[in-house]
Amino acid sequence: MNQPGVQKSTQTIFDRLPGGRAVDVVTLRNDAGVEVRIMTHGAAVLSLRTPDRTGALGDIVLGFDTVEPYTARSPYLGAIVGRYGNRIAKGKFAIDGQTYTLATNDGANHLHGGAIGFDKRLWSSEPFSSADDVGVTLRYTSVDGEEGYPGTLEASVTYGLNARNELTIDYHATTDKPTVVNLTNHCYFDLTAGRSGDVLGTELTINADRYTPVDAGLIPIGELASVAGTPFDFRAPTAIGARIDQHHPQLVAGKGYDHNWVLNRQGDGVSLAARAWDPVSGRTLEVQTTEPGLQFYSGNFLDGTLTGKAGRVYGRRSGFCLETQHFPDSPNHPVFPSTVLRPGQEYRSRTVFLFGAQ
Ligand code: GLA
Repeated sequence: MNQPGVQKSTQTIFDRLPGGRAVDVVTLRNDAGVEVRIMTHGAAVLSLRTPDRTGALGDIVLGFDTVEPYTARSPYLGAIVGRYGNRIAKGKFAIDGQTYTLATNDGANHLHGGAIGFDKRLWSSEPFSSADDVGVTLRYTSVDGEEGYPGTLEASVTYGLNARNELTIDYHATTDKPTVVNLTNHCYFDLTAGRSGDVLGTELTINADRYTPVDAGLIPIGELASVAGTPFDFRAPTAIGARIDQHHPQLVAGKGYDHNWVLNRQGDGVSLAARAWDPVSGRTLEVQTTEPGLQFYSGNFLDGTLTGKAGRVYGRRSGFCLETQHFPDSPNHPVFPSTVLRPGQEYRSRTVFLFGAQ
């Protein structure tokens, strides 16, 4: 039954994998015209249409028109990344004195779950409508030993869209052996909806006084450094491009922004992480999360070799990611908030993306 303000979610086949398995797509819509399409491959957001200040709808995420590029060369466009989003140094960590070795797929380090992370798995899907929202729950069972991780992990991700233009992502997981978990969404946002070709003019605010500086392999060195007086200070709205090419050693290491900010949190629930605004279209994006960190990645590795939806070529910095998460390499930094999940515990994480125009 349709709810006031939101419309029923619909599920159809998006495409087929080599071998014939169907990849489904679920479409969520509300009466304001916001429309989100989510596919079962990688539990990825395929498209996200939001109104600008004139009411015109535009697609504000990067993606592909077919599943094939997602299976091989996609840099995690729109996907859920796991079992551990971000990097683990040398692909090694220990729990209770036992050392585990993960796949290394980013130089010497482990990145985004390994060679075949959650972004390249087929999830099951269950659309729903509730009193407040329409959504879909996607589930994936990651077996003991997958990519080197201990324990069978039962993971679910629920996307819900409500009439207030909020897209909520709820993550949940349980395990049968101690393991590490750090799930996030890897949407590349472009609030210009393709108008500009890059995101350098987008104004960004990040609610963080500190960030975690990295080494040349983008592994945190362990320090929580103040952003004050650096190009990492986004406490007041600043264009992404305003300082991105400054000769700051951390910008050189990241080839731009590719760092984790230590969020200024309030309370136990969701707390403001970031805001982005495209001054031309007026589109806004606000991110709230229960997570302690935010990886802001300015699309530095996009290089014009990928052609996305409707034939658009994705050039350098044509999208930015705001990955709500625990800090990179937490399993090797005992002072960082823990990412260990044990049998009997529940992993829960929530992120809200709020869309607007002003
Ligand atoms: C994350 C990483 C980046 C890069 C992208 C995907 O944001 O931090 O270094 O790997 O994913 O290209």
